[in-house]
Amino acid sequence: MIIGLLKENEKRVALLPESVATLIGLKAKVIVEKGAGDGAFAFDNDYIKAGAEIETRDNVISKSQLLIKINIPEKEDLAKFKEGQVLLAVLNPYFNVGLIKELATKNITSFSLDVIPRTSRAQAMDILSSMATVAGYKSVLTAANTLPKFFPMFMTAAGTITPAKVLIMGAGVAGLQALATSRKLGAVVEVFDVRAAVKEQVVGLGGKFVDVEGAVDDKAAGGYAVEQTDEFKQRQAQAIHDHAIKSDVIICTAQIPGKKAPILINKSTVDAMKPGSVIIDIAASTGGNCELTKNDETVIHNGVKIIGNSFFAVDMPTDASKMFGKNVINFLKLMITKEGELNLNWEDDIVKGTAVTFNKEIVHERIKSFINQ
Ligand code: NAI
Repeated sequence: MIIGLLKENEKRVALLPESVATLIGLKAKVIVEKGAGDGAFAFDNDYIKAGAEIETRDNVISKSQLLIKINIPEKEDLAKFKEGQVLLAVLNPYFNVGLIKELATKNITSFSLDVIPRTSRAQAMDILSSMATVAGYKSVLTAANTLPKFFPMFMTAAGTITPAKVLIMGAGVAGLQALATSRKLGAVVEVFDVRAAVKEQVVGLGGKFVDVEGAVDDKAAGGYAVEQTDEFKQRQAQAIHDHAIKSDVIICTAQIPGKKAPILINKSTVDAMKPGSVIIDIAASTGGNCELTKNDETVIHNGVKIIGNSFFAVDMPTDASKMFGKNVINFLKLMITKEGELNLNWEDDIVKGTAVTFNKEIVHERIKSFINQ
């Protein structure tokens, strides 16, 4: 099988040379678009040493059976895709309905790495966890860099510096990484989440879990959060307000898959926060957890800096690409034969659960019913 690696319109790349070498060890042939890894400091010569061939973008698209990307394909690339080709990328299908329909119409078999089932066996393939790890870490470093105060406590000849207070919304992968990073930098950390199951992890990492009674915690949601009642939202807003006005930094990570992010910090809360405080909203791309967040922008309100950035992974391209590539390899191992050929094993729950389009149909049940609703 010929696997093609395409350049992104950002600094990450889906496979570093080390991952390409693994694929070649699995008897696949890999062709890489010229300059694909430049942004992540992986150069054409490194790919050649790993056993790949360098080609133009058009040649990679026309010669490959399986195309690997991080971001959704550009319109002009899609026009060049051939019937029967397989695409592996992060398609963000709930927000890219037109693209999914087009992939089905063009008879492209597509796998979206962001819908991989969240089972123990799939953990090593979970690109959302990998990118959330980077985002959680980078969000805290950005906050520390922006805050006009220290994070750790210091006892100096010039007096005692009290530690920064960090409040984290959502204790998923990104929130827990933000907690761990804030603690390493010496901050005092409080965490909100609607899933009581995360309390133990928060405490284990040195954070304080803020309980708000009455959260809907639906086991059927597969470990994810679900929409909350209006009564709970009101009680939670008051609790968040009380903690936010004492905080120096708020890291927002709360998300509900396929939906707009919940608004947890109202304008009136920002109005009451200390000037100089920082809010980093990594849920910005789905609307953000703060009412004033603007995606990809920094807003200053009442002296509070609100940074809306869901793409911190792009700013750490080497390790983000390394993790992404390892996840891709682990996924591909489910569908590469001993001879290095592609074998779409529909009996495998991970292969089936990640497939979006096949044979001119949308085959992912949840995405199909979302699109048809
Ligand atoms: P996410 O990015 O979907 O959401 C982040 C956090 O926000 C979640 O903890 C969620 O409960 C919280 N949240 C949502 N609405 C909220 C609200 N109104 N107020 C406060 N908090 C709110 O979460 P992520 O990181 O994708 O993890 C979700 C679940 O998936 C976790 O249980 C995690 O352990 C699990 N997981 C499982 C994996 C596997 O088994 N392969 C891999 C990664 C995560």
